[in-house]
Amino acid sequence: MSIEIRGAAQVLQLPPGEPYLRHDRAGELTLEPGEVSLPSDTSVAIDARGCAVIPGFVDCHTHLPFAGWRESEFSERLTGVTYSEIAARGGGILSTVRATRAATLSDLTTLVRSRLDAMLALGTTLVEAKSGYGLSLEAEVKQLEAIRAAAGGHPVEVVPTFLGAHTVPKELRDDRARYVDAVVTEMLPEVARAGLAAYADVFVDAHAFSLTEARRILGAARSLGLGIRLHADQLASDGAAELAGELGAASADHLEHVSEAGIDALARAGTTALLLPAAGHFLMQEKTAPARRLVEAGVPVAIATDFNPGSCPTESMGTVLEHACLGLRLSIDEAITAATLNAAHALGRAAETGSIEVGKRADFVVHAVPNRYHLVYRFGVPRVRTVVAAGRIVVQEGRVTPQNSGARSC
Ligand code: NIG
Ligand code: FE
Repeated sequence: MSIEIRGAAQVLQLPPGEPYLRHDRAGELTLEPGEVSLPSDTSVAIDARGCAVIPGFVDCHTHLPFAGWRESEFSERLTGVTYSEIAARGGGILSTVRATRAATLSDLTTLVRSRLDAMLALGTTLVEAKSGYGLSLEAEVKQLEAIRAAAGGHPVEVVPTFLGAHTVPKELRDDRARYVDAVVTEMLPEVARAGLAAYADVFVDAHAFSLTEARRILGAARSLGLGIRLHADQLASDGAAELAGELGAASADHLEHVSEAGIDALARAGTTALLLPAAGHFLMQEKTAPARRLVEAGVPVAIATDFNPGSCPTESMGTVLEHACLGLRLSIDEAITAATLNAAHALGRAAETGSIEVGKRADFVVHAVPNRYHLVYRFGVPRVRTVVAAGRIVVQEGRVTPQNSGARSC
């Protein structure tokens, strides 16, 4: 049996057998007009006449399980108050911590499910989701359980990450060592024991965790069998990319302020530079991540939304493509590769998904555009027609099919 994509104007196929695509090879993307047939358990024929077919987006950095939005902080930021100033006075991440602690597991599960639906309708088939708005054993576990419950049976595959080291909670601001101890000796062992996360992440920043603290937390995570990643050099040059390279992390994320030494460390380690250009745009940061320099240095580059209520409240990978091209100056092919195959590689899933290839899971999207350039060229309007996830049609005419949709909530 097979999946047939009939009559497509363009089907984007990446070279087979590559864990990720070096961007100097983006010109080797194969574009096949016409029919493609992929093996599958079911027999499905997709009418893709006049359309472009590309792999499902992989949103490899999100903060999905949170309660409450922060639109009032956003309007303050528009008047000149900075993200760091809001964080320093106890707003920002800490205001989302208050709302998330107050939410029940069932509330959070409903919220995550509805966000997965929104992402799916926009063409995303694999998502990474971080905790980090609980900041206590109980509340972090609740967030991770919400991810697990929402992902069960949902067409979007979810890779969970423990981000207990997102910031120090308010009640331990005068005793941060106690919080780091709790992350290392209580939270990480429980998260690993219960199999609630595949990765651990640390936010290295003046308002979050130091390099020394990050090294200890990530070392503990690794010894428990978790993969590791970092929020690195987002607001200042903190030496976090250097640490990511030293530890052989799966990814170093943000990187607006990465140093030359940090770029070298990532290149040597093969750590993915995971860029979040829509977040930089939304924070009105003047400095953008040096995407071209990273590409030249041979660092694998991936892109993602960073979906969260403070620095990037959008589920749209299409929007991220636009910012990657217009803000970071990636080519359209580089940006698509960064949003699919390289993003899957950053999550350790490139052997299963991220490209349209015989032998991989059939995760792809039919976009109602004549070729892939239109995805960015005609910015601002998503044109997802059909989504196939794991060989099943789960979005038709731009809508999640009723049997695949989760609860609706704002
Ligand atoms: O990736 N940088 C730290 N964490 C998030 C923002 C979280 C928030 O503002 O709530 C980020 O941008
Ligand atoms: Fe983030």
